[in-house]
Amino acid sequence: MPETLPWFAGGAFPLYLAPMARYTDFGFRQLCKEQGADVMVTEFVQADGLLRGGPQAWRAVDFTEEQRPMGVQIFGSSPETMAEAAQKIRDRHRPDFIDLNYGCPAHRVIDQNAGSSLLRNLDRLGAVAEAVVKAVPELPVTAKIRIGWDDKSIVALEVGRILQGVGIRALAVHGRTKEQGYSGLADWEVIDAVARALDIPVIGNGDVSDWKFVDRVRRESAVSGLMIGRAALGYPWIFKEIKETLATGQAPAPPTIDERWATVFRFLDLLLQGPYKDKPADDIGWMRAKVKALTKEMAGSRQLRPKIDRVNSLDELHALAAEHKAEYAQAVG
Ligand SMILES: Cc1cc2nc3c(=O)[nH]c(=O)nc-3n(C[C@H](O)[C@H](O)[C@H](O)COP(=O)(O)O)c2cc1C
Repeated sequence: MPETLPWFAGGAFPLYLAPMARYTDFGFRQLCKEQGADVMVTEFVQADGLLRGGPQAWRAVDFTEEQRPMGVQIFGSSPETMAEAAQKIRDRHRPDFIDLNYGCPAHRVIDQNAGSSLLRNLDRLGAVAEAVVKAVPELPVTAKIRIGWDDKSIVALEVGRILQGVGIRALAVHGRTKEQGYSGLADWEVIDAVARALDIPVIGNGDVSDWKFVDRVRRESAVSGLMIGRAALGYPWIFKEIKETLATGQAPAPPTIDERWATVFRFLDLLLQGPYKDKPADDIGWMRAKVKALTKEMAGSRQLRPKIDRVNSLDELHALAAEHKAEYAQAVG
């Protein structure tokens, strides 16, 4: 048996930030780290794209030492290309692990026979994992799957055994099928069955939303950790809230509206100093979706969204924040 990954040692039960394309960027990850996320994974990057060297693709892979343990997630369908991309990432960034995406349901990924498409081609799925494991023997390789293509082909257990057999060191299971997309509920019975059957740590994923959910899963399921996605997007405080509540029995006070806006601007600062530093000051189109996501759980966020769409500069965003804070000063959150 290979050594336990350090973040699972001693039954640590880590909370991962789930990879989310376009959202879990360098800046958002920093916020989540400060709020207690234990392990993080970059948004997925195409193995081919990295090898062709596009700056856009490499931008997604940036992280700081403080953000460790960090994994870089890649997708693709060619064992050779995936192996070569893993080596290039190892050489340039030395992440703590490489993560393989076998869950993405997007057409552009399926059309390349990658992501969740490989849940219909288990020979190829295993070959990709094996090639990457062999290519970077000094780095742990992990994987993230959905439970199957559709409800007639729930293959999570079989896939888990294949991946464990070729040397995958931990497996995140999103308890939905590809066909489900993001609808319905994640099937935690399947996740639990996979966790019970495998020797490697299984990370449960799907609909984790608060401390009660975490408390129940931790007591009732065999998973070794959890991964939180959408619930963190508008509320990166979720990690600290869950941990503190479980440790002390008392939930910390939620952030005030002032703290929330300060977090939005800190987030934008991080991006403007980091991966977006070459963007012209008047080009703020890229930030609209990110700001809308991060303000989604604020009081009055529905009215805020169209206003964010009309903002044309950082100064205008500051003015909008001041107006919103004045209107909702009494609201907690
Ligand atoms: C906007 C968005 C982007 C996502 N991008 C990725 C990705 O790049 N790689 C991946 O493995 N999963 C991706 N996912 C799936 C999430 O990691 C996670 O499995 C899913 O959202 C279920 O967890 P949740 O219920 O906690 O959100 C994405 C999900 C969303 C909503």
